[in-house]
Amino acid sequence: MQHGFLKFPSGFLWGSAVSGHQIEGTNRHSDWWHWELATPAQPESGKAIDYWNRFEEDHQLLADLGHQAFRIGIEWARLEPRKGEFDREAVEHYRRMLESLKKHGIKICLTLHHWVLPKWVADQNDWLNPDTVEQFLRYVEFIIAELGEFPDLWITLNEPMVALLAGNISRDFPPQRRSLRAFRRAACNMLRAHAGAYGLIHQHNAGACVGMAMAYPFFEPWGSRGLCGWYERQAKRFLDRLFYQAWDESARRGKLHWFFGGGEIEGLCDSIDFCGVNYYFRLSLCCSRKHWKTGFLRLDAVPDGVEVSDMDWQIWPSGLEAILQEVWGRFGKPIYITENGIADASDAKRPEYIASHLAAVHAALASGVDVRGYFHWSFIDNFEWKEGFAPRFGLVAVDYEDPALPRTPRPSAALYSRIIRDNGLTS
Ligand code: BGC
Repeated sequence: MQHGFLKFPSGFLWGSAVSGHQIEGTNRHSDWWHWELATPAQPESGKAIDYWNRFEEDHQLLADLGHQAFRIGIEWARLEPRKGEFDREAVEHYRRMLESLKKHGIKICLTLHHWVLPKWVADQNDWLNPDTVEQFLRYVEFIIAELGEFPDLWITLNEPMVALLAGNISRDFPPQRRSLRAFRRAACNMLRAHAGAYGLIHQHNAGACVGMAMAYPFFEPWGSRGLCGWYERQAKRFLDRLFYQAWDESARRGKLHWFFGGGEIEGLCDSIDFCGVNYYFRLSLCCSRKHWKTGFLRLDAVPDGVEVSDMDWQIWPSGLEAILQEVWGRFGKPIYITENGIADASDAKRPEYIASHLAAVHAALASGVDVRGYFHWSFIDNFEWKEGFAPRFGLVAVDYEDPALPRTPRPSAALYSRIIRDNGLTS
């Protein structure tokens, strides 16, 4: 990559991201914990990287690396391990974590729900049950009352569509249903939960900045000729709608997209102060008769010359620019990149990944898109859901072989620190 100095606007917020279940460890009262134990091929999160007990040391490292903000998740299952019983010790523990970040001068972006539910919520049919919305809002009220002074940015839901699709259609995540009806019903309840949480946070603090973090994979037709080419283009339209457009349109207009069955949701209209963009890869849609199970699409095809991550995800920075343009065009609201990163154990590709994706962000900024900040995923190696601990997304490496779980910044962590210090990057 060759370019001059790319300066970012002053006040651009530089940080990194994690989620509770992926780093804290021992999230015993959660649906994921139980599912991990009950599912033979599924790795267990166990004590993860033991952030729960080592947050002070990790925050010191964040500060040493110059990160200005940290996107952190809070676990409902820890705070309300049994229905209606809030755990004082857990909330005091979270308070100490958040205070420690403030002490280091690090801004806080707080995620209220990142895929994981308390086990008792899963047992009552999770998001299919309308009571879950009420209970979620009670939990949000509790957080606002106890910890509401800390967040600089709030994220109500992380990638709801990924969890809904994986939990209700592809059966990759708990509760492993296969039901379009369940998927739609759960999506409507999650939109209700978001709208309610947005309202509650604003009641408490009218100036709060609240958004959602959405996954925006960049789908691209392979470019076949004739009927196949037509099919690939239709597949893109369908997948864009399925993965994010139907949700985004519902949130923007306050009316459920026909995809979710139509109807209004109270408080949903304009319930976003900023858009959270999670971007990782391009996915090429290649028409293939053999792949009937995935709708006659081969989804792992990689065009010649395109690099991939350790998880075989295509590295495609211009996809990020296109997504930023699309989201800006839809909402016209400030954007934070709430996740962007690569599984790369050797750290050979991460420096270029960071630089090229930031160049794409810069290009979007130059064309008028209001991007306010960037959170790299991830600050540190963590539990990558179905894949367990093998994929290494961290700027900081964790040695899982050593019981002391030592942390070591990778070379890309130093590069990212330099970018933060300079508020920009050179070739
Ligand atoms: C999720 C993270 C996950 C990351 C990498 C995002 O979809 O929000 O929890 O670790 O992607 O797969």
